[in-house]
Amino acid sequence: MHGFTDVDRQPDPKSWVGVLDRLSGEPFYQAYQQRVRELLRPSPGRRYLDVGAGTGASAVRLRDDHDVTVLTVDRSLTMAVAMRARGLTRCAVADAHRLPFLDDSIDGAWADRTVQHLADPRAAIRELARVVRPGGRIVLADPDYDTQVLDIADQDLARRVLRFRADCLLRNGTLAHQHAGILATLGLAEVTVEPRTLLVRNPNAADNVLGLRSWDLLDAPERRLQLGRYGGSARRTRPRRSSRVRGAVRRGGRGRPVRVRGHVLSHRGHRLLPRAVVVAHHR
Ligand SMILES: C[S@@+](CC[C@H](N)C(=O)[O-])C[C@H]1O[C@@H](n2cnc3c(N)ncnc32)[C@H](O)[C@@H]1O
Repeated sequence: MHGFTDVDRQPDPKSWVGVLDRLSGEPFYQAYQQRVRELLRPSPGRRYLDVGAGTGASAVRLRDDHDVTVLTVDRSLTMAVAMRARGLTRCAVADAHRLPFLDDSIDGAWADRTVQHLADPRAAIRELARVVRPGGRIVLADPDYDTQVLDIADQDLARRVLRFRADCLLRNGTLAHQHAGILATLGLAEVTVEPRTLLVRNPNAADNVLGLRSWDLLDAPERRLQLGRYGGSARRTRPRRSSRVRGAVRRGGRGRPVRVRGHVLSHRGHRLLPRAVVVAHHR
């Protein structure tokens, strides 16, 4: 399971604070998170909720730029401690599936890269709709791992790696393209979708974005990079083999790319990682 599913039970929970800090320094993340905040249409003095707030970087910006009250929820105590250290005071350690707020008590809410990690994403989105007042806005942002590509010579390997990541490493790796439909079925109005594309050129940055450096820590037997499984018809004649991730991924060491079955995935270094930003009015 991905480390963000349960940060506090990871071998080094604070390292996940570092992961978010590194990403929040990247121009791509800064730009789309700015857009998420704009889409909330914050009004001074009102109350906004960040679900799965992580280190609270975006919550701090919303509070300071718009003079609003920001409430945050994260299931991780480690993240709540990080948020408090950064000056956020209204941080609840709570589960996105059961928000500790009354119906219609929040003026707007967002969940940024949170829904992808949830056991029951539809229930959690329903919770967002429950606590946001009529006319308030809900914004969801998640990567859509079904729309990613790797520019490496072995495209069969690239597809297997990406499918492995979408289907096995994340609970809801491809849910982003269903956000709008889920919001619509909850009766929310004016649902819009904005795609964003992340282009990664630096090999080490690409390894980090893909999370490759943590793959060799996985040992669940069902988490296999299955050779042949996702290949085209020409490949089907090859014998089916499978390999445990632990054996397939080789750490690159400091400053060097990670290898998967001997391939440097980022050799030519282009990845397109679209993610959806969805906004909806409450009914
Ligand atoms: C990828 S991080 C994103 C953090 C932040 N939204 C950001 O954009 O930087 C996902 C966050 O969701 C939190 N999370 C995971 N499962 C959760 C749950 N069931 N309820 C609340 N938060 C959860 C994790 O602890 C983590 O902080």
